[in-house]
Amino acid sequence: MKKSDVIIIGAGAAGLMCAWQAARRGRSVLVIDHMRKIGEKIRISGGGKCNFTNMHCSADNFISQNPNFCKSALKRFTPRDFLQLLKDHKIDFHQKRYDYSADESSKGQMFCNGSAQNIVDMLQFNIENAEGKFQLATKIKEIKVKDIKNHDEKFIISTDKGDFSCYSLVISSGGLSIPKIGASNFGYETAKKFGLNIIAPRAGLVPLTFDEELLSKTSSLSGLSVDAKVSCGKGVFREGLLFTHRGLSGPAILQVSSYWQEGAEVIVDLAPDLNVFEALKYARDKQPRQMLRSVLSGITPNRIAALIADLSDSDTRIADLSDKKLRIVSDIVNSWKIKPKGSEGYRTAEVTIGGVDTNEISSKTFEASKVKGLYFIGEVLDVTGHLGGHNFQWAWSSGHCAGQVV
Ligand code: FDA
Repeated sequence: MKKSDVIIIGAGAAGLMCAWQAARRGRSVLVIDHMRKIGEKIRISGGGKCNFTNMHCSADNFISQNPNFCKSALKRFTPRDFLQLLKDHKIDFHQKRYDYSADESSKGQMFCNGSAQNIVDMLQFNIENAEGKFQLATKIKEIKVKDIKNHDEKFIISTDKGDFSCYSLVISSGGLSIPKIGASNFGYETAKKFGLNIIAPRAGLVPLTFDEELLSKTSSLSGLSVDAKVSCGKGVFREGLLFTHRGLSGPAILQVSSYWQEGAEVIVDLAPDLNVFEALKYARDKQPRQMLRSVLSGITPNRIAALIADLSDSDTRIADLSDKKLRIVSDIVNSWKIKPKGSEGYRTAEVTIGGVDTNEISSKTFEASKVKGLYFIGEVLDVTGHLGGHNFQWAWSSGHCAGQVV
């Protein structure tokens, strides 16, 4: 049996950060993963440049049944702390610029100038430099608890490569998103085995799909991208929206999908800076002979204008339209109520909402209150960030804080 002080299951962003910090403190650390490569999500994220943090990251950017849980770790290891690590390792980065809206430059999304692989290399180098070890391509069969003395519990992890034991066991196996790069329900099953509660998981930051009827109506819009304000429940986002051959995608939809539940409506404002009812009335006064679709073309892209004229059964001169009819048209532009059929699911979702109930976890140490020595960090917890670098910041912050105590 190979012994370590700390075993970390899951070589993603949270696990690697935790391994680095624990190894730095002189703890013997073993990172186990069932995949051959470490940090796959870091490597593929942000188009290969990794949106590794967000300068405005705060508890407001997270969804959780326990909204205060993330505050402590986010304060103790901040976006600036992560930037400092990159500077120390000479990894250049930049803040993403936006050109379609004046206030967009302040979104705070940070990306690598070069490859995201540089971040994976930085983490690996520091873990190995502090004598941390990796056990990759390893299937975990069972976790057993042994030697309960003085409230210390020792874990034995049986795998297809032999047994490993430790005093501190960290679960950083992430959520269910993108199974083909390693996602599994291991973290949830382990939590359940130890009697912890799970907040039901569902796909987040995911494209939404339409039923056949809605798809046939909107098929002419496939590939079109617009600036839109999209809302669902408490989620309201002004970002790009993309019509796809399956339904809706783009940042505004990914964001709002994290607030969407089956059966709910999503409200889309296709002209967020304009009161379209007033604009249509004005056009009717000034240019009554114009066709509605050409007036709408001054407000939204031509393809959307044509669809709205069809949907509202108003493909006529604007002079012929009553206030009531103009209201129907403007409601479609300013608050189009869409009922998605579903989402694309974990196959394409960037994150999993829900997870291990944080009421059972210390926000200071990430240790489970019911099981001494067992820790949960990163996305496996019921803490899910908005799009824009918040999820990696959560992984770094929770991993860093747990790494100081395991
Ligand atoms: P993560 O999922 O990264 O790691 C879990 C590890 O556990 C994996 O290595 C996996 O193989 C391993 N594992 C799972 N089951 C196991 C088992 N049974 N046995 C052993 N090992 C097991 N966020 C962001 O802030 N900015 C961004 O740009 C992006 N972009 C992005 C793109 C794509 C395509 C996806 C899918 C996701 C993002 N994200 C993101 C989200 C971000 O990647 C995610 O929140 C973090 O990687 C979570 O880090 P964790 O370490 O918690 O889990």
